[in-house]
Amino acid sequence: MTKFYELSTAERIDRLRVEGAIGEDGLRVLTGQAEALPAVVASNMVENHIGAFPVPLGLAEHFVIDGEALRVPMAVEEPSVIAAAGNAAARIARSGGFSTSVRREGVVAQIVVTDARDGDGVDGGGKEGADRSPLDRLTEYVRAHEGEIRRVARQAHPSLERHGGGLRGVEVRGHEDGFAELDLLIDTGEAMGANVVNTIAEAVSVHCISHIDGLDPLMSILSNESAGQRAQSVARIAFDDLKTRDMDGDRVARRIVKAARFAWVSPLRAATHNKGIMNGVNAAVLATGNDTRNINAAAYADLSDRKRTWTKWTIDEDRSQLVGVIDMPLPLGAVGGAMSTLPMARLSLALLGHPSAARLMGIVASVGLASNLSAMRALVTRGIQSGHMNLQFKSLVMSAGARPEELDQVVAGLRADPAHADLAMAKRLLQRLRAESK
Ligand code: MEV
Repeated sequence: MTKFYELSTAERIDRLRVEGAIGEDGLRVLTGQAEALPAVVASNMVENHIGAFPVPLGLAEHFVIDGEALRVPMAVEEPSVIAAAGNAAARIARSGGFSTSVRREGVVAQIVVTDARDGDGVDGGGKEGADRSPLDRLTEYVRAHEGEIRRVARQAHPSLERHGGGLRGVEVRGHEDGFAELDLLIDTGEAMGANVVNTIAEAVSVHCISHIDGLDPLMSILSNESAGQRAQSVARIAFDDLKTRDMDGDRVARRIVKAARFAWVSPLRAATHNKGIMNGVNAAVLATGNDTRNINAAAYADLSDRKRTWTKWTIDEDRSQLVGVIDMPLPLGAVGGAMSTLPMARLSLALLGHPSAARLMGIVASVGLASNLSAMRALVTRGIQSGHMNLQFKSLVMSAGARPEELDQVVAGLRADPAHADLAMAKRLLQRLRAESK
């Protein structure tokens, strides 16, 4: 059977239809641009809407995650990202695929208060208890009235408990400069839950402020830190599946471990290493209609001088395998927001078999790990450019104005002289081709 990557776009869509991976709705969305993001949908999502900004959607093949074979939708403008993820996934699949585990404890909302006498707030001076710090006042109230806080939270969003979520924890913390915060840990069920969490936080804030004297409510907002919404994925690759034409697999594996270690010791390198991971993570997150900014904020908040990246690579000498682990916050949802509104996001989720939010977290973590492996394998063997070149030449030739039927010949011309391949050369080659075919 012809390989997926060898088919034309129309043939790939038809193969998905024949396989039952997409139905009539999916077919319409993939073949009709207007269906992909109707103006009536988009204009109700953002302000001053004038159009849509499509980026390519592709499928990274060969993923086997917890025993299930998947093609993962990825939306990304950068050439090679999808091929690289699929290439690493194939090597990993030959040793059994990815094993994932997920923690989904909830999203934290911060209700931040200061002393009303510090200015800018309602003057609470003179009221009973106003001589104590905001932290003491908040702590005392929460200790005595946690049940009431839970009731207010429930009433603020009654449907959350029906969907398996709800308030899971309440904690008070103090800070320097007189800041105090009441943290609510909220299980958002299958949703990412920003609106639910912020609605509950604002309701609890109003309740607390009306019952505690002398506090100025500064803000109520979820934290994107997301330490409790984490996914881990582990992959093994036999040395033999890492070899290149010029380097044996054992050597490639050890060089990958070194490259990964270097990201832990060099902040300059860590930034790039992490960009490679986020190439895959962001593309899969965007394809499913999740909030890429939330995922990036959460992921980078996990890093510090002591933890410079989310992946670790080691050697299993007994089994002659390279072992990779990724562990990162991924506060994803599987329903609600753009996931339910955007036809393309709905299609991606359907292609993934309508995963739960936890399952989606494991899938996205695996894509991040695969992207990391692919980048490092290229870097420590033949270098990154040779693999990138083909697709980059294609974009150059398209920018030069080539028609699809002219693409291959002009790309071949650029490939013959890569040192001088640029837009001007692509234009010259195109002119020559057209002159010759007159
Ligand atoms: C390019 O988009 C990403 C890489 O630079 C990642 C890396 O260096 O690990 C190839």
